Amino acid sequence: MYKFLWVLLMLTISSLEAEKVSFHTFYETKLTKEEILQQAKANTTFWCSSEIELPCDPNEFRRLDGSCNNLDHPTIGAAHTPFVRLLPPEFGNGFEPKPAQDGGPEPPARHIRTTLIANGIRPDPIFTILATHFFVLMAADSVSIQDTVNYVLWKPYCCQPKGKTDPLCTPVQVPNDDPVHRFSDIRCLNLTKPITYQFVGCTRNDTVPERISSAMPLFDLSIVYGNSLQNALKKGRLYNRGLLKYELVDGRVLPPSTPTVPNICLLNQPPHETRCHASPEDGMNSLLGINLMGIWFWRNHNRIASRLADLNPCWNDDKIFYTARDINVATYVQILYHEFLSLLLGWSNLKESSVVSESQGFRDMYNPEVMPTISLEFPYILRWAHLMQEGRVKMYDEAGHYLKQVPIVNLTLRTGYLVLDNNLDGMTQGSFRQASGKLDYTIDPDVSELVLGGLQRASDVGSSDLEKGRYNNFPPYIEYIKYCTGQCINNFDDLVDLIDTDKLDLLQELYRHVRDIDILAGTWVEKPIEGGFAPPTFYCIVVNQLLRSMVSDRHWYERPNRPNAFTLEQLLEIRKASISRVLCDVGDTVNRIQPRGFERAGPKNRMVSCKAIEQIDLTAWKDYSCSC
Ligand SMILES: *[C@@H]1O[C@H](CO)[C@@H](O)[C@H](O)[C@H]1NC(C)=O
Ligand SMILES: *[C@@H]1O[C@H](CO)[C@@H](O)[C@H](O)[C@H]1NC(C)=O
Ligand SMILES: *[C@@H]1O[C@H](CO)[C@@H](O)[C@H](O)[C@H]1NC(C)=O
Ligand SMILES: *[C@@H]1O[C@H](CO)[C@@H](O)[C@H](O)[C@H]1NC(C)=O
Repeated sequence: MYKFLWVLLMLTISSLEAEKVSFHTFYETKLTKEEILQQAKANTTFWCSSEIELPCDPNEFRRLDGSCNNLDHPTIGAAHTPFVRLLPPEFGNGFEPKPAQDGGPEPPARHIRTTLIANGIRPDPIFTILATHFFVLMAADSVSIQDTVNYVLWKPYCCQPKGKTDPLCTPVQVPNDDPVHRFSDIRCLNLTKPITYQFVGCTRNDTVPERISSAMPLFDLSIVYGNSLQNALKKGRLYNRGLLKYELVDGRVLPPSTPTVPNICLLNQPPHETRCHASPEDGMNSLLGINLMGIWFWRNHNRIASRLADLNPCWNDDKIFYTARDINVATYVQILYHEFLSLLLGWSNLKESSVVSESQGFRDMYNPEVMPTISLEFPYILRWAHLMQEGRVKMYDEAGHYLKQVPIVNLTLRTGYLVLDNNLDGMTQGSFRQASGKLDYTIDPDVSELVLGGLQRASDVGSSDLEKGRYNNFPPYIEYIKYCTGQCINNFDDLVDLIDTDKLDLLQELYRHVRDIDILAGTWVEKPIEGGFAPPTFYCIVVNQLLRSMVSDRHWYERPNRPNAFTLEQLLEIRKASISRVLCDVGDTVNRIQPRGFERAGPKNRMVSCKAIEQIDLTAWKDYSCSC
């Protein structure tokens, strides 16, 4: 009887027409018909309105547009979800960056960068370049990279007279005695401010500027699956056996390409380089690391989907697609938390901070009161990792023989290069053979003086990073020390536990007051955390986000109670994931690799046959109801 009523109820619910409802992206309120028209008239719909299918179904898989993650706040988790701030902003007149304590200007960003961080090419003894490839994937997965392309593509004139009249321009001034440009005529580097809700017209411009991002905030491989329903469905899915669309090029599986993607693969060298991915997001045509990781996780989806389709002939395309995506995302997050960040930040530290656990079983820390968002400080502090970006991409053959190298800055916005001359194979082999840049207060000169090969004469990622922090209106560095450790810093000497005295001397030369120190400048010169390789302020801000992402995500892969949850047997399979296994599975020509691919091969991490690298056994997903 009850069962009958239940079925009746379910039928009634599912027959209710799902409707699309528009919400304001900044205020998270439902838009009235009038407001919808107003936005259309002002051409702000793209940024300021989020159209979501309601009602939320508590039993459905993670939605492609990130909506309905929190059942009470359906828009949060979708693209254009506002950031949260760990600490309240501080600013000067008209929301300009705050002045120094004595009322004067803050020291110039370029001067700070060249004083604290030296140019140099030094290989790291521990990390491979695969680690930085993965790092940029993590960054691009949770926040859009529009601010990186803005000053190159949309507003290339910030150093010209026109830039003075564009409120979005904030070019970096180069001092006359600059260590590099004293020998050139360059006194200005192009740069734009972060794009804000205020700037795009979602809210009044006399309120605190808040950055807007087109990426979904959670760790969900949105580089592969897209940030909007429309793109995901139209550009991603093949609608056959749960697959993503793909093409075969010389026997290699790649996302489909379109010659008509406007303005993205700008550095493709015609006539030979024509490839430009028609993936749901342009991100797969951006930085080399993102492109490579995107291709690998794209293929990994199709590998999983094909296996599921063979195992479970009674599953339809939808079920295979969403299950394969769930396994692919879980594989990525398992590697992110348990392999990559456990190495960079120290596994024991992360265990202490409750980010990882010794137990292999389920973990359920879901709290619907915590919103699925990103802190504004998180993507910002990730910029510290520019110090470990190696400037040259080396290519090797299968046997480990060196073939050639190319500056990584020449490969941004240049997807077409990958498929020529087996370059993709060479880079795949190189990813786990080549060291990353050393974490030693130096930055690769291509990263700090060029950044975008061919598109700009000069640019400095470090100076841009510093300047962007000021336009995010972050409070002083020492406020973050207080937030992270409870310690009150009153003068430079109080920093001695965190920063070596030679670096402290430099800080004191640069800044007139300890409260003037920029958050990134302080983080740059910190001593690494014990048991890890990253600075303590980086650790604190990243761990805050790792916990938020885990606790706020209703679809978190370790939960036993989420919709379509893994069984314990399946979760234990996911635990076997490793970046080396991913490369064995989907990296062309990879037959041998060291077990810990983010670390250089050596006596304790010897290269072995892929047969010796543990595998996720997908038979754990076999549906026995298919066979009767
Ligand atoms: C409307 O906004 C979109 C997205 O910001 C932009 O690409 C387009 O050029 C705008 N159209 C007009 C007529 O301003
Ligand atoms: C803010 O908006 C007002 C009214 O739309 C406009 O006149 C003004 O120029 C804007 N100010 C800035 C700094 O963009
Ligand atoms: C990298 O790009 C620069 C600028 O376009 C060019 O001069 C240089 O030859 C390129 N290097 C390689 C190895 O392609
Ligand atoms: C700034 O952008 C303009 C226009 O793209 C370019 O001509 C100029 O070289 C750039 N400045 C530098 C220092 O690269």
